[in-house]
Amino acid sequence: MGHDLVIVANRLPVDRVTDHNGKARWRRSPGGLVSAIEPVMRAHDGVWVGWPGGTQKFKPFKVDGLDLVPLAMSADEIEEHYEGFSNGTLWPLYHDVVAKPEFHREWWDTYVKVNRRFAERAAELANDGATVWVHDYQLQLVPQMLRELRPDLRIGFYLHIPFPPAELFQQLPWRRQILEGLLGADLVGFQLPGAAQNFIRLVRQRVGHKTHRDLVYLPDGRTVRAQAFPISIDAAGFEELARSEAVAERAAAIRDALGNPRKIFLGIDRLDYTKGIHARLRAFGELIRDGALTVDDAVFVQVAVPSRERVEHYRNLRDDIELLVGRINGDLGRIGRPAVSYLHTSYPREEMAALYRAADIMVVTPYRDGMNLVAKEYVACRIHDDGALVLSEFAGAADELRQAWLVNPYDMNGMKAALLEAYAADPKELTRRMKAMRRQIAQHDVKAWADSFMTELEDDSHSHTKSV
Ligand code: G6P
Repeated sequence: MGHDLVIVANRLPVDRVTDHNGKARWRRSPGGLVSAIEPVMRAHDGVWVGWPGGTQKFKPFKVDGLDLVPLAMSADEIEEHYEGFSNGTLWPLYHDVVAKPEFHREWWDTYVKVNRRFAERAAELANDGATVWVHDYQLQLVPQMLRELRPDLRIGFYLHIPFPPAELFQQLPWRRQILEGLLGADLVGFQLPGAAQNFIRLVRQRVGHKTHRDLVYLPDGRTVRAQAFPISIDAAGFEELARSEAVAERAAAIRDALGNPRKIFLGIDRLDYTKGIHARLRAFGELIRDGALTVDDAVFVQVAVPSRERVEHYRNLRDDIELLVGRINGDLGRIGRPAVSYLHTSYPREEMAALYRAADIMVVTPYRDGMNLVAKEYVACRIHDDGALVLSEFAGAADELRQAWLVNPYDMNGMKAALLEAYAADPKELTRRMKAMRRQIAQHDVKAWADSFMTELEDDSHSHTKSV
């Protein structure tokens, strides 16, 4: 039996884990993309096609009532599609070339091959006239491939990461194929309006299609709409978790374990070179070196979640950060009082909520970030309307969280000043800012995000056969 909604994403929303008896099972994975899409899927009785990680082949299965269809990748495909073209070419290119993208023709060939397999599987699973929602940069060719196989489908695509300006995008040798791949969708969603405009401009210049505002007019009479849908979090879920007795107790235990400093700074990121972890730790270290802060006043807790560890840039980054943490603690810490408490691990939602509750100043300083859900999660967990958010201007979240201390992560002195201001802010000022941010998050949660994308996608008033 087919499905009326098919979600296509590079990853399945589960991880294969081995418990202490050596038995393997599926566990729901943490992370933004998954928590964002699950509610839509449940509401529409959908199926999710994705890579389960690793090379092992699995049959379709269910977890927590969600229908999952695993698509295996070979070791070569993991190396060339996932680590290579997705994370060695597109990821740095789309994040302002913060690291140098590599262009390899074999990586591209494998990207095409893997995209085709996803498209074919989705085509098999979709009922007549079904909706297919394709996600993220790993699968940008799927919309066009799927449309060729199944012209009856309604196809949406959502890019979770930034879409770069034309000046950068055009470095890509396969720029036209990617644009044409995306144009297979009826609706192409981005985090911010600027990204949608970048896309429209490129389609006009590079593919030569007529465009008007957010619409592209294709020669066959079909139209494609490109719009911004800023993603969000399950705000009520995080708030409820933060209010729980267990999380409150754990937050107090965390403060105790840190020696009850006056203020706790916190960073939580995937260990990624786009996140600006090095710069923020340097800024904090300099504040201690300058005497503006002391290790009795303040500690910086940095959680670095292991990520893409086989990609060279990521391995080098880990070494750089760990060297810096060692230096800062060696030079500036005292026995029992390190300046930075560094953890290379991932935590379940409960522990994240406890850290958010324990922290006085949340520091999110990416050089470029599609949205950044950690910033939003922190706000959702500040149930007493206190705490400060220091946020990079270059995170998508900065468009909505205007009451944060906004910083340019390239500006070391500016960042130091913002950290100090947030540290010393008057409680009334903190409350004023946090209340406004909490209102924003409560009104624009992940459900609102998914509903607005689906409503726009399924809106018949601009059906995909309409002509100019
Ligand atoms: C970002 C991307 C997602 C990706 C996630 C984790 O949020 O937008 O598509 O799944 O990072 O990265 P990974 O490489 O482990 O899937």
